[in-house]
Amino acid sequence: MLFRAASLLAAALASPLALAQNPSTSTTATAPSPASASSTTAASTFSPLPYPALDTLPAAVPGWDAKFNKGIPNIPVNAAQLPTPVWTKYQRQCISPGNWAVTFDDGPSDPTLALLDELKKRNIKVTFFVVGSRVIQNPAILKRAFSEGHQIALHTWSHPALTTGPTSQIIAEMMFSARAIKETIGVTPKYMRPPYGDIDDRVGAILQALGLTVVIWSYDSGDSANATDVAARFANLTVGPKVGQITLEHDLFAPEASQGPAAVDAVVAGGYKVVRIDECLGGAAYDESIWSGFALDGSLGPFVNTANLSQPPPAAAPAPAGAVPSPGLTGAGPGTAKGAGNDAAGTTVSAFLALVSLAVAAAAML
Ligand SMILES: *[C@@H]1O[C@H](CO)[C@@H](O)[C@H](O)[C@H]1NC(C)=O
Ligand SMILES: *[C@@H]1O[C@H](CO)[C@@H](O)[C@H](O)[C@H]1NC(C)=O
Ligand SMILES: *[C@@H]1O[C@H](CO)[C@@H](O)[C@H](O)[C@H]1NC(C)=O
Repeated sequence: MLFRAASLLAAALASPLALAQNPSTSTTATAPSPASASSTTAASTFSPLPYPALDTLPAAVPGWDAKFNKGIPNIPVNAAQLPTPVWTKYQRQCISPGNWAVTFDDGPSDPTLALLDELKKRNIKVTFFVVGSRVIQNPAILKRAFSEGHQIALHTWSHPALTTGPTSQIIAEMMFSARAIKETIGVTPKYMRPPYGDIDDRVGAILQALGLTVVIWSYDSGDSANATDVAARFANLTVGPKVGQITLEHDLFAPEASQGPAAVDAVVAGGYKVVRIDECLGGAAYDESIWSGFALDGSLGPFVNTANLSQPPPAAAPAPAGAVPSPGLTGAGPGTAKGAGNDAAGTTVSAFLALVSLAVAAAAML
């Protein structure tokens, strides 16, 4: 999957207001729906340790390395993703043969919204393996998915083939994603899926050191390879003896996400119970132990207002004339961690400030 985010980030640097007014141009080629236009907001706050530029490989973070880069087998980094990774050590089926975990990768994105509408009508809960860069772009969509009872899981920061990256970079991919999710919805996923299913014993050991459980899939819908008959494929899968299916779909682009509702209908019509990954595998969806030993101040840990987690977010401050907030300051005050992302409508001012912060944070990484 190719991302155009690098050029879009350049556009944000050049003209933050233009992107703030149309944030949905970031990941999709299709016109945003009216609903998506109002509920897509940029992240409002940035931690003292700035996030990497969107969709770029993060640099090593020594504090994270010191904790997690231990006892990892000395297996060489691959030149390219594995053509046939071995998945026998990882989760690929639900425990109960009557259960079917419907999963979507690569969001949250504008097309996620229509999918959420349809899932709500059906009272169906699914699992989203989200990309950290999309979380920073679309925090309100992530909040909505979470609040409507869907499970949120990890799918890296920049969607690389993990076996091609050094260990320190893989740790940073997971930790920046986990931090973005924690700062947006207040919990940290236990489950993760490696992009392209690209995993070997080194990557598996890193993910284990992070305390994460790897989920692959029993069946790839083919939607990211342009399949348009996902519902028919799922209907076929329901024929014969039941298997605890974990199916792979995507919600970054509308042609993929828009097949989700009919696909779910086929699963239900075939006599399966649609479940989240936590029920499918019999484990808790979220686990905060990844932050143990790290201060919840936005440095190595997430920015969490431990003084009072139920405080309502403050109103966005008006922009002081000519002032450009530094990334170190925007994330430093208490109570800001759940800022404009809570405000589904957002405001031009807060979106503008967020994008200025993003531009400054990105520039600081260059
Ligand atoms: C899917 O369609 C796009 C656009 O037509 C094309 O560029 C791409 O190669 C197709 N992918 C596959 C796997 O056929
Ligand atoms: C469904 O299964 C039938 C019988 O095996 C096959 O002919 C058909 O191509 C399958 N359809 C899809 C969409 O996979
Ligand atoms: C936390 O904030 C909420 C909302 O302002 C308030 O009702 C509650 O009393 C506060 N709790 C504590 C422990 O300060």
